[in-house]
Amino acid sequence: MTTEPDALHTLARTRLPADLADRWTGLLRPAAHLRRAGAADPVVGRLGGLPRLIRPTTWPRAASRRPCSPGSAADGVCRRGKPRWGFLAPRSILRSDPRQRGTTPMHVFLTGASGYIGGTVAIRLRQAGHHVSGLARDPAKAEQLARLGIEPVVGSLDDADVLTARARRADAVVNAADSDHRAAVETLIAALAGSDKPLIHTSGSSTVGMGTEGEASEAVHGEDLLDPGSSWEPDHPVRAARVAIDRLVLGAAGQGVRSAVLCDSLIYGHGRGPGRESVLIAALVRQARAGGVVRQVGPGRNIWSTVHVDDVADLYLRALEKTPPGTFYFVANGEESFGAIAEAVARALGLPGPRPWDPDAPDNVWDPAFARHALGANSRVRAHRARELLGWDPRHRSITDWILRELR
Ligand SMILES: NC(=O)c1ccc[n+]([C@@H]2O[C@H](COP(=O)([O-])OP(=O)(O)OC[C@H]3O[C@@H](n4cnc5c(N)ncnc54)[C@H](OP(=O)(O)O)[C@@H]3O)[C@@H](O)[C@H]2O)c1
Repeated sequence: MTTEPDALHTLARTRLPADLADRWTGLLRPAAHLRRAGAADPVVGRLGGLPRLIRPTTWPRAASRRPCSPGSAADGVCRRGKPRWGFLAPRSILRSDPRQRGTTPMHVFLTGASGYIGGTVAIRLRQAGHHVSGLARDPAKAEQLARLGIEPVVGSLDDADVLTARARRADAVVNAADSDHRAAVETLIAALAGSDKPLIHTSGSSTVGMGTEGEASEAVHGEDLLDPGSSWEPDHPVRAARVAIDRLVLGAAGQGVRSAVLCDSLIYGHGRGPGRESVLIAALVRQARAGGVVRQVGPGRNIWSTVHVDDVADLYLRALEKTPPGTFYFVANGEESFGAIAEAVARALGLPGPRPWDPDAPDNVWDPAFARHALGANSRVRAHRARELLGWDPRHRSITDWILRELR
């Protein structure tokens, strides 16, 4: 359903009583305002019930039970004066106001706003009533952000001055551009030191990945692996730098930063911002479309923990508002073998497969390292802290259900 103001206007004209539709131009302004404030979905989702949302909010004088002159009021209640029509926000909108949830609206500076995770988080924060300024290195993407109600900040993770100034100006920072950009993380920590402001850093559960060439592993990882005193190190040196960054972020709690690492598992679902696709699923689909058959690494028995992008965004919101400092979270709700994921992709796209592929095969469209350390690896984690500390209650459970239902 389109949500453009003109369409809203037309809908109002067709669905509202004539006298009320005449007032719609005035009512459109608060509706459009709510859209800009990120409340588009609840409003638009209820357009069919528009007359229920726009109703007399106050009467100049309270409805009186005085007898009316015969026939003057169908329900026998005599109302004096003219009603003032107003927009009654559905409860879902009221709940999205931070003040209604007992928290204060924040200004959040977010990197990666034009990407898959960052864009979805930005939209969720806007819906929750927070102001978001988002880093984008491409001016065209910056314009896209502005259209979504996100204040664009043109710059890159290498622009230390921009990151510092923007982090200091904001009440909180989310780093969702690149889990491996150490210099940006160092800059953000230095900018926030001593402020007690939240710094939510995005990591990825490939850190616990074990390349098994498509075979299953029994190893399941808990969130204590980065606790102070833990000497855990990743299976392969390629993941060590990312883990070191995660430790740096957690350690920032000692410098007066309310830091947290959200270590996302394999994310699925359509992004809500400019970035619509998750990297692993997109790689699988690209290869399948190009080759006409879905591929997996080896037997495809390797298992990944998974999570839906909407549940991810909900957790970022909760972490911003409530995380204790220095907390490491896995972000996952369910797990699946890569073979089952590939099978679902094949069915969704109407292609044969899945068929095994050697990461080193000369006709392999995947980078061999990506195939071995991501598509052919196991990454099994359990996410308890988000539920226990932040009340996270993810709604989506199955990546294969989503693929079969929504992947086209
Ligand atoms: N998707 C997953 O399942 C998943 C799971 C766990 C962890 N992660 C990690 O989380 C991070 C974000 O993932 P994503 O899926 O959201 O990726 P994405 O869709 O590619 O988004 C990354 C965003 O960050 C921006 N960006 C990257 N480098 C930048 C730089 N140097 N300066 C300014 N902006 C920069 C990109 O800008 P442009 O649009 O200009 O390129 C893009 O908007 C990645 O490091 C990824 O490895 C992803």
